[in-house]
Parts: sequence; structure tokens; C-alpha cells
Amino acid sequence: MIKIALIGIGYIGNAHLSALKQIKNAQIAAIVDNHEENGRKAAQENNTKYFKNIDELLKNSDIDCIDICVPTFAHAELAVKAARAKKHVLCEKPLTLSLEDADEMIKAVEENKVKAMTGHVLRFWPEYVKIKEIIDSGYIGKPLNAFCERLAVTPDWQVGAWDKSEKYSGGAAIDLHIHDLDLLIWLFGSPETVKASGILTPENPREGGFSHIFTSAQFRNGEAGFAEGGWSFKGAFPFTMAVRVLCEKGTIEWIFRAGKNIEERSQAANIKLYCNDGSTETIEAKQADPFFNELSYFIDCIENDKPIETASFKDGRASLEFALAAIKSARENIVVKL
Ligand SMILES: NC(=O)c1ccc[n+]([C@@H]2O[C@H](COP(=O)([O-])OP(=O)(O)OC[C@H]3O[C@@H](n4cnc5c(N)ncnc54)[C@H](O)[C@@H]3O)[C@@H](O)[C@H]2O)c1
Repeated sequence: MIKIALIGIGYIGNAHLSALKQIKNAQIAAIVDNHEENGRKAAQENNTKYFKNIDELLKNSDIDCIDICVPTFAHAELAVKAARAKKHVLCEKPLTLSLEDADEMIKAVEENKVKAMTGHVLRFWPEYVKIKEIIDSGYIGKPLNAFCERLAVTPDWQVGAWDKSEKYSGGAAIDLHIHDLDLLIWLFGSPETVKASGILTPENPREGGFSHIFTSAQFRNGEAGFAEGGWSFKGAFPFTMAVRVLCEKGTIEWIFRAGKNIEERSQAANIKLYCNDGSTETIEAKQADPFFNELSYFIDCIENDKPIETASFKDGRASLEFALAAIKSARENIVVKL
């Protein structure tokens, strides 16, 4: 049984909590949140211990690993403390906000020989996993280009509105768009050149960062990728994600529309395959909660002492580097070489 402490019981912390409750070899050994009322309530409801901060947790609790679900600006400090205390770490995406912090996090986990994973959940999302499997199998030939998209209404659920400041969240370019940049890296490897354009947050252009961004990239093996991400939508605009990959022998596509956010993610939308010979196929991915898949993988790697090969901290750093390059390109209207 792997004992896990969950730090940050806000929007995504609750999604992790629901998933962890379904994992048979995981025990939620503590909940930590600096919002005492919310943290105590969640701990009580889940029959576990409450701590106000990571220092109290590390002094008083017997745990194997830590699941970091706090706002992005606090990831690095908590991940480094966890690693130095010899705890395995799962850190929500984006890994952090600067490459210097990412390097410090990687150094801490390597020096302390703990396992470390970034919450790049698309790598565990049934439809994205299926699409990658089909491409990797060679069934529709070599991939040539990919388009992906992630569109949302302006978030209003965060505790403290930290997401409204680029300094704390990175804006939509890092917080939201990074999912698809990570997907492009997962499909094609590292990008060689990045060109982006976007709009700064209309309500707060000085501090909000990009609220909508278009990023195109050229990859080392010749593939091209384009991603659109934005959270400037208002009203009833549904959370939308899409991916389309043109391959030598056909095109694979998945378009998904949920509710206000990903909480209605259980609605199914099939993957479509358009083959060059004119035939089409509808492909169903076996449904499962992506956060359950992600956390099960993390727990399994710890229990069976396996290396984290999917969404490691190094993968998290690579996606952050891509997102930072997109921001630089959009701000300075230049092509950024990586
Ligand atoms: N994988 C995904 O699809 C996904 C979706 C949403 C958010 N996220 C990421 O998850 C992280 C959290 O986002 P959220 O929307 O859940 O935020 P949130 O504001 O809803 O929740 C954050 C929680 O952390 C607590 N907290 C803040 N600082 C803390 C600290 N130092 N110690 C202990 N508790 C602390 C807050 O009180 C709050 O309960 C962000 O990095 C975000 O980018 C990922």
C-alpha cells in the first residue's frame, strides 16, 4: 500500500482525490492545504489527517509520496522540499514557471533518488493514448502534421484568483496551452523552431499574460505542428479540445466538447479515421478517468520500483521550454530556435 499526501484541495486536487479513492493500492494518508477550513473539511470527510503546510506534514506524517496540486508558482518550492525529504513526487502541470526552477526540481529529485512525474494528463487520456497508439503502430503511415486546440471560458474557480496573473500562473499560454504543446512533443519529439502570436488578456493586458495564443512549430524529423489555446471565451461557450493528425495514409481526428470545464469529461466522442482510399473508421477508446490512469501509473511505478517513463520531470521541463518559447515569439514577433 502506497501512502500519499495530497497538497492543495482546490479544483484539480478534488479531481485527484476522487481518482485516488478508486486506486486499491493507494492510501490517502494526509491532506494539506493552507486554506485551513477547506483542508480540514476535506480531511475529515475522507477520514485522514490534516496539515496546514508541507513542513508540518514532513515533520509529523509517515508517507511515501506527495501529490502537488497547489497553484503553479508554489510547485517548485514544495517539490524540492518533498524530494529532499526522500518522498516521491507527482507535480501538476505546468511543472513550474521558469527553466531555472525546473532545473532545481530535477536536480533535487536526481540527488535524492526519488521518482518524479508531471501531471501531463493528456498522456493518460484514453482518446489521446489511442491516437498515439494508432500513429505509432504505423497503420496510417508516417505523421506529417498535427493541429490541436484547447478553448475555454475564463476560469473563475481558483482559490485566490492566482490564475489571473502571468507572474503566478503563466497565463493561458503556460497554464492551458501547455497541454497541447506537451502533446506535440509526445507525438513528434522536441521542436526546432517556434513561431507564435496571440492576444494579451483583454481585462488586464499588463499582468494577465496571453489569454489566447496560436503556436506553430517545426519538429526535428520534419513534422509541423500547430496549437491554439485560449481562455477568453465567455458565457455558455463549452470547453473544447481537438486534435487532428495528417499522416501519409490517412487522417485521424478527435473533437470533444464538454461543459464549463473538464468535469463533464465522461461524455464520449469517437475518434474518426479518414483513410486515403476513401474508407472511414470510427474508433472507440476504452473509457476511464484520465486522472485515475495518471495516478495509478505513478503509484504503480513506486510500488514496483519502476522508472517514470511517461511525463517525467524532464518531459515537464521540455513542455515548459516550448511554452516559454511561444510566449517569447509572440511578444517579440520573432521565430525562436530551440
Ligand atoms: N491537469 C489539468 O487538467 C489541470 C486542470 C486544472 C488545474 N491544473 C493545475 O493544478 C494546479 C492547481 O490548480 P487549481 O485550479 O486546482 O487551483 P485552486 O486555486 O482551485 O486550488 C489550489 C489549492 O491549493 C491551496 N494552496 C495554495 N498554496 C498552497 C500551499 N503553499 N500549501 C498548501 N496548499 C496551498 C489553495 O488553498 C487551494 O485549495 C495548477 O498548477 C494548475 O495549472 C491542472
